[in-house]
Amino acid sequence: MTTRTGFDIHRIGGRIGAEILGVDLSADLEPAIVAEIGSALLEHKALVFRDQRLDDAGQLRFASLFGELTTAHPTVPSVDGRPHILPVDGDEGIRANQWHTDVTFVRTPPKVSALRAIVVPRYGGNTLVANAAAAYRDLPEPLRELADRLWAVHTNDHDYAVPRTEKAAEYRRRFVSRPYRTVHPVVRVHPETGERGLFIGGFAQSLVGFGYSESRDLLRILQSYVTRPENIVRVSWTPGDLVLFDNRITQHYAPDDYGDLPRLLHRVTVAGDVPAGIDGTLSHILEGDDASHYTPAVA
Ligand code: SIN
Repeated sequence: MTTRTGFDIHRIGGRIGAEILGVDLSADLEPAIVAEIGSALLEHKALVFRDQRLDDAGQLRFASLFGELTTAHPTVPSVDGRPHILPVDGDEGIRANQWHTDVTFVRTPPKVSALRAIVVPRYGGNTLVANAAAAYRDLPEPLRELADRLWAVHTNDHDYAVPRTEKAAEYRRRFVSRPYRTVHPVVRVHPETGERGLFIGGFAQSLVGFGYSESRDLLRILQSYVTRPENIVRVSWTPGDLVLFDNRITQHYAPDDYGDLPRLLHRVTVAGDVPAGIDGTLSHILEGDDASHYTPAVA
């Protein structure tokens, strides 16, 4: 499909994902183009821009077209001299091989994430993105009705797999150096489209009103709808590619399948609002500071 401003949108998945062709992200983009990219993001939820070759400044400029940027992370240090860029470096033990939505352990998780590939392994190292609205629609009605009423506790401090290397252990120590626990609705209403989506993922560790094992069982069942193959798009990276995804209604996963090969992405996130459930009730903090877009991470 060609948009009014003249770029092409090619769907790359049945239920999520599109490639945007004919836009140079390093250019000064006209507001009408930015608005059309924004609409495409709402519709397709994950957009792939190939071969853009942006530098850090260009990535920051492009991401900031969608709103105020967060600093890199509430606890993990940024790229040196770039407080808004999170390094996603496989060599530093940063391997996001768990389905998650970025930073849902704070009250205002990011609205949009922009990932840029800098070093890509010669095999593996893809990113999978899942459509959490399609997952919600797939739920059988009785389960949907239950999900509508559930609230989950999201935390950065949970029983992660034992780190394989000292660098990964150090990364984990930093990640949990300040504990956060926030209660979010399991079904979040998208603030722009009104779509309902399952808002769970790896940081959702328990359900309000349920014991540990019932929580785990229910979350596992709900999560199985998010990770159905039909709800996923798989992005195979080439250096220079940029992927934008709507963090309010997606989850993502980076398979740890590239051994010791180098892989480096830079991540920039756009500040989000406080999630609301289907009756408009907002998320609330159980533990940790407000982390409002966040305080700079301390090492
Ligand atoms: C992330 O979770 O933001 C990183 C995803 C990736 O490594 O592909």
